[in-house]
Amino acid sequence: MSEFLEPMLDLARRTLANAHAPYSRFRVGACVRAGSGRLYAGCNVENASYPVTQCAEAGAIGAMVAAGDRQIVEAVIVTEGAEPCPPCGRCRQQLAEFAGPDMRIHLCGPEGVRLTATLGELLPMAFGPRIPKRET
Ligand code: THU
Repeated sequence: MSEFLEPMLDLARRTLANAHAPYSRFRVGACVRAGSGRLYAGCNVENASYPVTQCAEAGAIGAMVAAGDRQIVEAVIVTEGAEPCPPCGRCRQQLAEFAGPDMRIHLCGPEGVRLTATLGELLPMAFGPRIPKRET
């Protein structure tokens, strides 16, 4: 386990507490650690128009990009349910924009890490940012 895990988990837990999830009542907190060492967190933000909901990971990634970082080296996702919560497909693709296949994602409950997987395990054969580039 990396030395950064505890601060990441702590931040993700505190951010989960701010989740706006009145419809699903399923709160999610996420934290990404950037190549710079900075931590960015997000929570899910639901909407009365349900499909407008933003996932916790998207919030964390948005905060990271807005602050000028572009590389994710580790991620934490915290939920309060009984099972570890793997990121949804859309969030996996968003993570793949800023991380390589070896990036570790820790799926956590309030008590700590329940399962760790790499992005490559969760999103094999990813369509990544290098694929659409043309040779000019
Ligand atoms: N959710 C996330 O925040 N991240 C995921 O990767 C999976 C789902 C949120 C969206 C919604 O607010 C709630 O969990 C139930 O789907």
